[in-house]
Amino acid sequence: MRETERRAAEAYRATFGEEPEVIASAPGRVNIIGEHTDYNGGFVLPCAVEHRVAVAAGRGGDGLYSADFEERRPTGGGEDSSWADYPRGVAWALGEAGYEVGGFRAAFAGNVPLGGGLSSSAAIEAATALALDGLFGLGVDKKQLAVLCMKAENEFVGVQSGIMDQYASLLCEAGSALLVDCRSLEAESVPLDLEAAGLALLICDTRVERGLADTAYNDRRKTCEEAARILGIKELRNASEADLQRLSGEELKRARHVISENGRVMEAVRSLRARDYEGLGRLMYASHRSLRDDYEVSTEELDAFVELAREAGAPGARLTGAGFGGCAIALIPPEAADDLARTTTRAFAERGFTEPAFYKSLPAAGAEVLKAQT
Ligand code: GLA
Repeated sequence: MRETERRAAEAYRATFGEEPEVIASAPGRVNIIGEHTDYNGGFVLPCAVEHRVAVAAGRGGDGLYSADFEERRPTGGGEDSSWADYPRGVAWALGEAGYEVGGFRAAFAGNVPLGGGLSSSAAIEAATALALDGLFGLGVDKKQLAVLCMKAENEFVGVQSGIMDQYASLLCEAGSALLVDCRSLEAESVPLDLEAAGLALLICDTRVERGLADTAYNDRRKTCEEAARILGIKELRNASEADLQRLSGEELKRARHVISENGRVMEAVRSLRARDYEGLGRLMYASHRSLRDDYEVSTEELDAFVELAREAGAPGARLTGAGFGGCAIALIPPEAADDLARTTTRAFAERGFTEPAFYKSLPAAGAEVLKAQT
C-alpha cells in the first residue's frame, strides 16, 4: 500500500471507528503534449504522476473526512464550494446516469499539490468514482467513469474543463503516456519509458494560478467554437490548415494552434514509438511556442522556465495544462534536474516572480482500487 492509501485508511478508522470496505487511489497528471485540444475533439497525450489522492470508504452512514484539511463535511446536503463537492459530484453524476449509489462514508488523503495545475480535482474525482464503483458493485468501466467525473466537474462543481484530466487519472499506465482521441473517446497507452532513456520529468510549479473558472479559459473555448462555426464544422478537430485562409484575427490564431497541436500529438506518438526523445522534445518546444504566440496562454514565469530548460540542454520543455500560470515540464536527465531547479529559483527571485516549487516524477500508474485489509 502507498503512503497516501495508508493515511486514508487510518483516517477512516479514526473518524468512523471501523475498517473501510474499499480503498482506492488516483494520480494527478501532466500533459506531455496536446494542449487545449480536448474540448475541440482533438488529441491529447498526458501521463500520470507519482502524486496521488487516496480514499477509504464504506457503505452507509454519512460523512466525508479530509486528512489534509483535517475537516469533516456531510456526504449529502448539496454543494458547499469545498473539496467535498468533488466526491459529492461524482456520486451525483453516477446517480444521474442511473446507477444506484447508496449512502456512504469516506476519508481522503493525498499529496497532489492543490490548485497547481496537476489536476488534484480529477484525482479526487477518479479515486471516488472507483471506490463507489467497488462499494456498490456497479461494474462501470473506467472510460465511462471518466466521462461521469467530467460531468461532475462541469455540472456539479461548475468548472468547464475537457475530458483529458479525468481520462488521464483513470486510464494511464506506469511507464506510459495515454493517447486519447477526445472525439471518439478511444484511448491507448504509448510507451514513455523515460527511466530507460535516462530522463525524468521535472515539473516547475510557478505557484501562480488563475483557475479554470476564470474567464480566460472559457474565452478560449468560445473563440474555438466561433472559428468552427465560421468554417461550418462541428469542432476544430475537423479543420485543416487550408481552412485557416478563411479565418482572421483571434479565430485564426486559436485555430492555428489547435490544428498544428493535433498534428504535433500524432508526430509525438510516432517519436515515442521510435524511442526518439529528441524528436519528442522538439515537438514540446514547438507546442510551447504555439501556446505562447497563437493561443496566448503562457506567462513570463512559464516562458522563463522553458528558456532556462533549453539553456540547460533539456531535450524538451513546455507549459502543461491550461496555462495562465500553473505548471511547466521539462524532460531532463535526473542528475541535471536539481541544477535546473536551482537556476530557475534564482532567476525567478531576480525577476521578482513568486518562488516556484519543483517535483520530479516518472510516468506513473493510473487509478487503482484495493480491497481493504482487515
Ligand atoms: C485544463 C482542463 C483540460 C484541458 C487543459 C488544456 O487542464 O482541465 O480539460 O482543456 O486545461 O489542455
